[in-house]
Amino acid sequence: MNLVVGATGVLGGEISSRLAQARKPVRALVRTSSDPERVEALRKQGVELAWGDLTDRASLDAACRGVHTVYSTATAIQSRQEGNTLDRVDREGQANLIDAARQAGVRRFVFISFRGTNEFDFPLQAAKRATAEALKASGVPWTIIEASVFMEIWLGPHLGFDAANGRARVFGSGDRKISWVSYRDVAALAIATAESPEAENRAIEVGGPEALSHNEVIRIFEERSGRKFEVEQAPEEVLRGMKANAKSPVEETFAGLMLFVAGGDEIDMRQTLARYPLRMTTVREYADRVLAG
Ligand SMILES: NC(=O)c1ccc[n+]([C@@H]2O[C@H](COP(=O)([O-])OP(=O)(O)OC[C@H]3O[C@@H](n4cnc5c(N)ncnc54)[C@H](OP(=O)(O)O)[C@@H]3O)[C@@H](O)[C@H]2O)c1
Repeated sequence: MNLVVGATGVLGGEISSRLAQARKPVRALVRTSSDPERVEALRKQGVELAWGDLTDRASLDAACRGVHTVYSTATAIQSRQEGNTLDRVDREGQANLIDAARQAGVRRFVFISFRGTNEFDFPLQAAKRATAEALKASGVPWTIIEASVFMEIWLGPHLGFDAANGRARVFGSGDRKISWVSYRDVAALAIATAESPEAENRAIEVGGPEALSHNEVIRIFEERSGRKFEVEQAPEEVLRGMKANAKSPVEETFAGLMLFVAGGDEIDMRQTLARYPLRMTTVREYADRVLAG
């Protein structure tokens, strides 16, 4: 049995669907507060539901029973729920899950993290690193996916990249290269590595097929749409100010993530793709998909 924690989210939903489509047994940890449509979509795909929460240790013991592989994509960063904080979920909750997995004799724990930076810290990055350390020390065989920036999120309207209306927001100068990756490709690689003995106890960096600066991405969207984009810039000094004056760990994390994106994030995928062959989505393909509506 595979267990997906975060299955009502973007990446966890994709991992669950892919496992279900491949006719592999999959169980999803869902919460009583999860979006009912997402829960129903999982159920319709044949995914078994385990009701629980990362903050409820007993529910994790039940969810891990008979499980050989745990995928944890969960995070509280988007959560608007009282008490569902980065500390309680991304730090303590993930530690609870690792311990439950250890007690249940899980054979692989796949933890989804991001690349991060050594130049500065922010609460989500600190929690991800604490989880990675706890996992490595747990004795449970592990794989950590250190993913770059998801194109569907960072080149999407919620973060100011509104292609339908010809508007884009750029973090920093927009000149640093980023290995924009589709969350669908991250899901495919998470599954491929989970099933590979070579990926046991390894951290694997996952970026897209081509590193492009924000400004190059905008040019691609302009070419494909035949329309000049209106560009708004968020200078690095402004982002640093936002981070310094943040009123909550979530605000500080968003500012930290934007600063991270401003600094660029390039990954050479050649070795990983030689081992786990996958035709990865390009930004041009993504642009065509978005512009087609
Ligand atoms: N976005 C990026 O560019 C990017 C880049 C690299 C890595 N990542 C990482 O990729 C992972 C997946 O991202 P995503 O966009 O798929 O996240 P998402 O859509 O925000 O999904 C978050 C999931 O976590 C669950 N969750 C929250 N609190 C929980 C709790 N207390 N107990 C159990 N589950 C809880 C949510 O469940 P409910 O539906 O019940 O709230 C949801 O299923 C994250 O760990 C993120 O840090 C993201």
